[in-house]
This record gives sequence, C-alpha cells and structure tokens, in this order.
Amino acid sequence: MPANVRLLRSEFLGLDEEVPLKDGRRRVYVNFDNAATTPPLKAVVAAINSFLPWYSSVHRGFGYKSQLSTGVYNRAREYITRFFGADPGKNLTIFVKNATEALNKLSYRLSTREDQVILASRMEHHSNDLPWRLKRKTLFAGLTPDGRLDLGDLEEKLKKNRVALVTLCGASNVTGIINPLQTIAEMAHYYGAAFLVDAAQLVPHRPLHLGSGEVPDFLAFSGHKLYAPFGAGVLLGPVEAFSKGIPEMIGGGTVTAVSKTRVLFAPPPEREEAGTPNLIGAFAVARALKWLDDHDFPALAAYEEELTKYAYQRLATVPGIRLYGPPPTLTPRVGVIAFNLEGIPHGLVAAALAYEAGVGVRHGCFCARPYVHHLLRLSPGAVAAYEERIAAGKKEDLPGMVRVSFGFYNTREEVDRLVAALFFLREEEGKIKKSYRLNPVTGEYLPPGGDYQARLDRHLESFFL
Ligand SMILES: Cc1ncc(COP(=O)(O)O)c(C=O)c1O
Repeated sequence: MPANVRLLRSEFLGLDEEVPLKDGRRRVYVNFDNAATTPPLKAVVAAINSFLPWYSSVHRGFGYKSQLSTGVYNRAREYITRFFGADPGKNLTIFVKNATEALNKLSYRLSTREDQVILASRMEHHSNDLPWRLKRKTLFAGLTPDGRLDLGDLEEKLKKNRVALVTLCGASNVTGIINPLQTIAEMAHYYGAAFLVDAAQLVPHRPLHLGSGEVPDFLAFSGHKLYAPFGAGVLLGPVEAFSKGIPEMIGGGTVTAVSKTRVLFAPPPEREEAGTPNLIGAFAVARALKWLDDHDFPALAAYEEELTKYAYQRLATVPGIRLYGPPPTLTPRVGVIAFNLEGIPHGLVAAALAYEAGVGVRHGCFCARPYVHHLLRLSPGAVAAYEERIAAGKKEDLPGMVRVSFGFYNTREEVDRLVAALFFLREEEGKIKKSYRLNPVTGEYLPPGGDYQARLDRHLESFFL
C-alpha cells in the first residue's frame, strides 16, 4: 500500500477493526459497501466532540450557547451552499434527514401547472422515483441496453411534453455510471424545465459545481454517504422555489406569526425546516465537505477512479462473472460495480464473502428495481412472477446482483482480497452450496455451524451494557 494511501486511511474511523469469520478466525474488515453508508471521518467526529460542550438550542434561546449553536448551524448552511459554488443570495441549503427526504420535499414543494409533467429515468433509486410517480404525472426516460441513460429518448420526451422538472441521479447506485449533467442541464433548460440531481452517489465521489453556465438547479444528497454520520441530508435549490406555498411539514420554527385566525410563514429556509433542527448532523455535513476541500478532492476522485478501473479489470478475470454496465474505461463511473457469478445465487456470494473472507458487500436490487430488471434483461412476465412470490412471503432465489462500492480510502490490496475470495468461492462452489442454509423468510444464506451468530449477539449486547 503506498504511504499516501496509508496516511489517507488513518483519517477514517474503524478501518482496522477485525471481524469474525465462520471458522472462528478474525480478519480486518473490508468495507465495500460505501454506496450504502461510509465510515466516519475522524476530523468530523473531532469537530463534533469539540463543539458538543457548547451544544444548545438553535433559533430558540438567547443564551450564549444558543447564539453559538445558531451561528454554527447557519454557518454550516452557508458553507455547504458555497462549497458547490452556488450563490447564497440566490440559492439555499435546506437541511433534511437524508437524500430521500430531500427528494420527497421537492416532490411536495415544486410548483407546477396542471399540464406539466416530471421526467425521471429508469435508472433511478426508488427515492427518486416513488415520490414523483405516486404524486405527479411522471414520465421515465429509457436506457441503452448496457444501462446508460438514453439521451435521445430524454430529449424526445422533453420535446413532446411540458416538462416542469427533469430529475436524474448524478451517478447510479447500481452501475456507478455518471450522467452527463451539463448536457442534460442544457437540454432541460432549453425546453424550459428545471433540473434536479439526486447526487447521493455523486457528491461523495466527484467535485460538483453549480456556479455558472448550464448547471443543475437542485441537488439532493445524504451526509451518511459522505463520511458524515449523524443523520443530516441536504436539498439545495433556488430560494424562490421555497418562497411560496405551505410546506409539507409545518409547526414550530416555520412561522413568524400565528394568531387564532392567521398564520404567517417564515421565509425559507426556516419555513422548510419544521421543528428543532439536527444541528450536529448539519455541522457534520459541512465539516466533511471542508475535509474534502482541504484534501485535494480532485486528486482523491482520480485515485478512486483508478481503483475502480483496477477492480473492474481484476473482477473480469473471475471465471463465470457477469459485470453490469459499460467498463469504466469507456464510460465515466464512480466506484460502484455490480456483478453476478454464473450458477451461484447473489445472496450466497454475499454470504460467502462475509463469512469466509470478512468482506462486506450488498446484494439484491439496491432499491433500484426497474434498473436492475433492465440490466438483468427480465421480461415483464418474469418480473410479475417474482413479485407474486414476494407477495406470498417467499424470498428465496429472487433476482438480483452483488454490489461492491468504494470510498477513496479503499485499496488495491482490498480489491485483491475480494478477487481471491471470489476465486475461492468458485473452487469451493460445490462444498459451499451444500453447507450454507437458505432462510426462505429473509432470503439470506447462513454458514454451517460455528459461533458467528453468538459472537455477533455478544458484540451487540456490549453496546447496551
Ligand atoms: C442514488 C441514490 N439516491 C438516493 C438514495 C437514498 O439515500 P438515503 O437512504 O440516504 O436517503 C440512495 C441511497 O442509496 C442512492 O444511492
């Protein structure tokens, strides 16, 4: 491992923790599930620890601590807006709990005319699909066979419909494919639509600027995928989009005057943040972004890109592997790679990686079912049939994939460990298939014997003593 990667790893909490394997041995955990949640940055935790003695109410008290806390909260908001190159006079960071809440908020708050529609795509995470399709007339841009956004179809739909908002992922949580945001912003604006980027998978991996030129109008992302736990997310957008109307959630903090007969709503952002805000979460997001700014984010992104190319090329050597999406050498991708091993259920691959090698991945459909169906080339009949099985409470052998996802603290050595574990699984396929048990209710595979579960339970108990 090069010295600078070792130095980088020391900036994160918990990278040296050992986890049990099924045979009782322990190994340093390899976290390849960063698209779900990333480990915390020590700098974020340290900043929070130094602030906690001063922690108090936001916008509510007038003591010193309250004033300080309100100041920290407001400064975090401004820092985030400026981090993306947006003008705090025109744009606004609204704190929410995660990307899902940010997307839901805009789906309630976006002001549209009767004849207008929303344009999403078939590669979206459910959080950028369901809030729209269940509330508003929503169209979906199609995909190329290898899983890229079909820009021709997007433009066709923009041309033929009155689109109020184009809403797309900045990067896919299944293939890591990065959408061409500037081209799409130009296209959306040309046809009079605003452009929202679900940036949950983009903000932690690539610098993103909303300063000038054709850029997205709205951004949504989560702190917990950005090395900043503590439960805050962001919706960033034009102030004017939040200046009118009644927010989807109202109460304390959202008003300037209330009498028996009248309610006067506060200007944004207060209008949009009902109840006492998550000061620590907001501060954590700002400090994580500051850490990126202080640590040459473009160089970190370049390292992660190189690691992704290395991983893709190494994974391709595993016999019977099917990798989804075009190679990262051909199409820009963040560090997310989904695959299947021919003849081995995805759940068993994930279980074997965890129990035999201490490698943490995710398997299934990653909350992006329409996209996974497309990549797996499932017919509508096959989808309907498996949905029937789920409705009947049967979860065994559902379609899906295995996903590995990187942060810029991951290393080539870790990728090699993953690849070695997959080769081992291939060699021991027969034995592993016979010895692992499938739990039909959860759809998860369990290893034979051992005291893995007992160790896990004891570990869990230790946090509640
Ligand atoms: C592309 C994308 N959008 C939205 C979300 C939802 O993020 P959260 O669960 O933090 O709300 C995710 C989570 O994996 C995601 O990958």
